[in-house]
Order: sequence, then C-alpha cells, then structure tokens
Amino acid sequence: MAVHLRITTLVENTATKMGTLAEHGLSMLVEVDDLCLLLDTGQTNTVVHNAHVLGVDLSRVEHLVLSHGHSDHSGGLMKVLAETGEVIVHGHTDIWRPRYGTRGGGKPRFSGFPHVREQLESMGASFHLCDGPDWISREVMTTGPVPRVTPFEKLDADLKVKTPTGWEQDQVPDDQALLVKTPKGLVVLSGCAHSGIVNTLTWARQVAGEERIFAVLGGTHLGFSTAEQLAKTVDALHQFGIEKLGVSHCTGLLAASLLAREFGSRFFFNNVGTVTEWDL
Ligand SMILES: [Fe+2]
Ligand SMILES: [Fe+2]
Repeated sequence: MAVHLRITTLVENTATKMGTLAEHGLSMLVEVDDLCLLLDTGQTNTVVHNAHVLGVDLSRVEHLVLSHGHSDHSGGLMKVLAETGEVIVHGHTDIWRPRYGTRGGGKPRFSGFPHVREQLESMGASFHLCDGPDWISREVMTTGPVPRVTPFEKLDADLKVKTPTGWEQDQVPDDQALLVKTPKGLVVLSGCAHSGIVNTLTWARQVAGEERIFAVLGGTHLGFSTAEQLAKTVDALHQFGIEKLGVSHCTGLLAASLLAREFGSRFFFNNVGTVTEWDL
C-alpha cells in the first residue's frame, strides 16, 4: 500500500527560512500517513522556536526517537515535552552514558544527554528503551546499534566516555537510524551516523529486509572523516542506488558540496525549513 511521507527539518546547522534559527544539532518531524514522530530535538529551545515559525504543531507528536544521547540531538527534549505532553520516547538503553568531547583541544567537555530521567517522566515522557531494532508501526522502525563492518569508517577519536579507570574511546553504541519502509524502498533518517553512513545503510537493508534504498536524509559525520573515507563513502553511496540524498548537520559543507556534485539532481541540502514530501 502506498505511503505518504512528509519530513520537516526543525533543527540543523544552517537555516535559510526567514525567522528561523540555526543551531549545531538536528531535529526532524516525520509524518508517515497518520503517524507523527519527532527524530531528535536539537540542543536548546531552537526546535520549539522553529516549529512555531514554520507552523508545526508539536502537540501532534506521539513518538519521539533519539538517534543517540549526544546533547546536540537530545538537549531540547525538555522544551519539546512542554509542547507535546505525553509522548513515547524511543532510544537505546545506553543514551545516558557519561560522554565528553575533546574537539578543538582543552579539557574534555560534557556532551551527553543533559536531562534527568525522572524529571522528563514527570513531564510526560514514557521511555521505551531497547538495545536492538524496534518497530514503531507497520512501516516505521529503529535500527538499533549499527555493526561496524567497513574498514574505512573509523571511530572519532574526539569522542570520549568517562569510566572509573579513566577516559576511553566512545564507540557510540547507542547510535541508530530511523527507517520508513515503503513500496519504493527504504527511507533512512540518520542522526549523526557515528557508526558510519555506509555501515548504517548496510544494516538498514538487513534489519528491514529490503534491498532498495529510496532516500537518505540527515547527518553522516563525513565532516570529521579523512579524504580516504569520504572518497570510499561516495563510491559506496553510488552502489546503493539512492534516488534522493538530503544531507545535514555533521556532514559539513565541504563533504555536502562534494555529494552535491556527485549526485546532481538527486541531492538536496536538508536544512532548517526544508520540507520533503513523497507518495511512495
Ligand atoms: Fe550530532
Ligand atoms: Fe553525535
């Protein structure tokens, strides 16, 4: 049966619509037929501000999916709850891990989920935490943790986790994508794709039992990758046969520009105010 899909980007690193704000982070409203979900929340009140400017009614959101616990994806949750009221929050069991970032040098800075669970619950959040793939409806699912299989998609050395014995590499085990299964193939919505966008798409096909990938939207983390990783990722993306590619956030402008040249009319910049609508 055909699926009507509408995706509105509420938070992203760049904003082009009058009155909206940009912020380092990501949030997308995803409407699949009658189902209304929010993927990530950005890091501050920007999500609510932009929703008001763009005429998006957040009280319609029934499910909220956290792609991972980094603050630029989860920090706006308390502000969002004030708009949504009761909502089911989907995420991995490890979203509260004590994580820090060292990019730019200096002391590690806290970059984890900045809210207390009990307070969020008192505002209407009902947590549905899971350490594997999870179906939200007949067409919509989360991937759960993404296996790292490609040799060229590396760990980000600036991401740390605090342990009783000191700092360790954060492997971001909570990283996952949101999938919409349609008659024309998968629509893959990624937060940061910390496990690698090629690994994410490979796992998405496996976990959803669908080989065709119609569209990919969201963060790819290519802004922090080597030239070798970027080149190998572009080759792999071509092989997936993607029909629409709308990158955001941690893709960065340089990698996004390269992808724009490679994918031509199939490419778009997915930034604040971008509305993508398909009958698939
Ligand atoms: Fe991010
Ligand atoms: Fe992240």
